[in-house]
Parts: sequence; structure tokens; C-alpha cells
Amino acid sequence: MSEAERELSWRHERGSTRLLLGSGAFERLLAERSRHLDRAPLLLVDESVLEGHRERIDSIAGTWSGAAVVAVPGGERAKCFAELERVLEACAERKLPRDGVLIAIGGGACTDLAGLAAALWMRGVAWLAVPTTLLALVDASVGGKTAINLGAAKNLVGTFHAPQQVALDPSFLVTLPRAELRSGLAEVVKAALLSADDSFAELERFDPETELRSSRWLEVIERAVRLKIAVVESDERESGPRRALNLGHTLAHGLEQERGFGALRHGDAVAIGLVAACDFAVARGLFTPAQRARVVALLARFGLPLSPPRDLDVSAVLRALLLDKKIEGGRLRYVLPRGLPAAAPGAVAFVEDVSAAEVERWLYSSIESSSSVSQ
Ligand SMILES: NC(=O)c1ccc[n+]([C@@H]2O[C@H](COP(=O)([O-])OP(=O)(O)OC[C@H]3O[C@@H](n4cnc5c(N)ncnc54)[C@H](O)[C@@H]3O)[C@@H](O)[C@H]2O)c1
Ligand SMILES: [Zn+2]
Repeated sequence: MSEAERELSWRHERGSTRLLLGSGAFERLLAERSRHLDRAPLLLVDESVLEGHRERIDSIAGTWSGAAVVAVPGGERAKCFAELERVLEACAERKLPRDGVLIAIGGGACTDLAGLAAALWMRGVAWLAVPTTLLALVDASVGGKTAINLGAAKNLVGTFHAPQQVALDPSFLVTLPRAELRSGLAEVVKAALLSADDSFAELERFDPETELRSSRWLEVIERAVRLKIAVVESDERESGPRRALNLGHTLAHGLEQERGFGALRHGDAVAIGLVAACDFAVARGLFTPAQRARVVALLARFGLPLSPPRDLDVSAVLRALLLDKKIEGGRLRYVLPRGLPAAAPGAVAFVEDVSAAEVERWLYSSIESSSSVSQ
């Protein structure tokens, strides 16, 4: 199969999702759909993507007469009831039929909103995802989770509704702010840590400055997506092995909450969470100091933070962790890396003996060591 025709598939309880991969996968997917779709689809497009790629999107929308393009606010502002209602009203206005299609072109926030709207409209219509951030390409594109927020509470209102098809087209990344790209790299590192092949070693040889349309980037994205597919296929509803994907996320969620949502990028929080998870794994003999050093060096080379901000309110982080559902009897349920590479895709250690005091000590010593390094 030539690079231009690469595709993956992910099997789930409702059938399977086809993922087309490559520069131009967006056009390839939509050209294919236009042959089979009589009714015009509704395109939900992230406002920044619409601004940066208007010609491309207009040209696709022009394939169907009467196709509607609805701009969706960037980031978390998309994930609220008001936006959900606006999208559903657009479906009503266009009389989107039961066999109609929603197409979401944007970051994870836009695809989360679109997926939920597609699940609700007429009790469920098909939708296609065109992720345009690195995080959405490697993470939100697979798994079928859709959600909006309830006030400040993230992802409380949602359901599983997998897209029918996904275009993994890295050429959208050319307009993505660098900080967003860096943040996405944290999820790529997480996926490599969960991989049983040479993904991590490959990342150590990868230069993120490489041209975004190059096959090197495609390969990095494809490896992370393959890993997520392998883990998700083994556990669709997150009862067991899928929890491995939470690697680095327990502390990340606490840090995001302490900062206030949006103040700390998700990937930056995950990078700090990965360092903590490596340290806790070393303390339990699951990971060697040398393996930990490789992870830290890679995160640092990608420009990701390794320790929390100096003005962190440590007790607020601990309060957030203790309120989180991962707590049981004062101990945190924690996902720790085990070996590098992992013995099998998603093979991590699930431990229940990380105490709040251990996390507290880690936070203080991490802040202290980062302060002394930069003095
Ligand atoms: N469903 C899932 O499985 C899943 C997985 C991971 C994350 N998420 C969700 O994804 C959301 C985060 O998504 P995200 O990090 O992809 O970003 P995002 O959707 O929050 O967008 C971040 C910013 O990038 C802009 N943007 C997006 N694509 C762009 C492009 N190509 N060029 C220029 N600007 C662009 C947006 O306008 C926004 O300002 C969170 O709400 C999270 O809960 C969902
Ligand atoms: Zn994440």
C-alpha cells in the first residue's frame, strides 16, 4: 500500500471505524464519501481551522450543494450545552436525516462536541472525524468517547459514539500553535511508554522540527494510534486494561485542577505526571533509574515541563487527588510504567499503594530541584 493510501481500522461493539492516514487523507475520505452521500453533510469546523484552511474546507463543502459549514469556538468553549444546542439546531435547520452525516474538523474539543451531537440527533447519526491537533490525532481519534463539560467539571456529560471514519491528516498541523504541538507530544511519549515495540527508541531518534508533512511525522502518529487501538480493542468500556491509558494522568488532573482548567496545557500536565509515575515506578523496582532517565531526557528534548510550577499550591493538588474517584481508603490507584519497552501493548502496573504523602513529597522535591537547577 502506498503512503498515500495508508489506513488502519479499529473494531468496537458497534462495528468498526476506518482511519485513513496521510497528507491529503481529508480530501481522500471526503471524495470517497461524496460518491455515496446524496444528502449534504453538516460540517462543524473549529474556528481557527476554518481561518487557517478556509480554501481547503470551502472546496470540500462545495462538493455538495447545500452543505453547511458551522464554525465552532476553539478549545473548551466548544464543550458546553449552548454549543451543543446550536449544533443540534443547525441539524434541525438543515433537516439532517437519520442517514445524514456530521463531519467534525478540529481539535479534541470540537470532535468531542460533534460526536455527542451525532449521538443525540435522531438518537444517533453517523459522524466523521478530522482531527487537527496532535492530541486529537493520536488520542481523541480513537476510543469513541464524546462529551461536554458541566460548568467546570470536565467531560461529565457524554456517551460512547465512535466516528464511522477518521481522516488522520497531519497537514492540518502546519497552523497549530507550537505550544499545542508540544503538548500533544506528551501523549505521543505516553503511547510509546505503553508500546511493546521500538516506538520509544524511534521517538528518541525523532526530531519534532521535522517537516509536518513528512513521513517521519506520519510514522510517529501512526505508532501512537496503533497503540491506542490495541489497548482500546482489548477493553472497550475502560474496566480493565484501558486504564493503562491513564499513565501520567492521575497527577496531571490534580495539577490541571489546581491551576484552573485551561491555565496549564493538558500535555504539559501529563509530562509532569509521567515523570512522577516513573519515579514511583523506580521506587517499587518496576522501572530502572536508567529507564527513568531516558523518559526525562526525551520529555526535556521535546520542550515539555518536568516539574510543577514553583507557585503550586501543593495542598490544593492533594485535595483534588483525594476527591478524585481513583482514591480508595486514602491510597491512590496509580498506573505505573513497567519496563521499557513494555512487555506487551499497555502492560503497566496498577498499584494501590501510592499514598498522598508520597505524592506530596514528590511535588515538594520536584519543585525544589527545578528551582535549584535554574538558579
Ligand atoms: N474523546 C477522547 O477520547 C478525548 C481524548 C483526549 C482529549 N479529549 C478532549 O480533547 C480536548 C482537547 O483537545 P485538543 O488538545 O485537541 O485541542 P482543542 O480542541 O482544545 O484546541 C486547542 C486550540 O487549538 C486550536 N486549533 C485546533 N486545530 C488547529 C489547527 N490545525 N491550527 C490552528 N489552530 C488549531 C483550537 O481553535 C484551540 O484554540 C479536551 O476537551 C479533552 O477532554 C478527548
Ligand atoms: Zn490525556
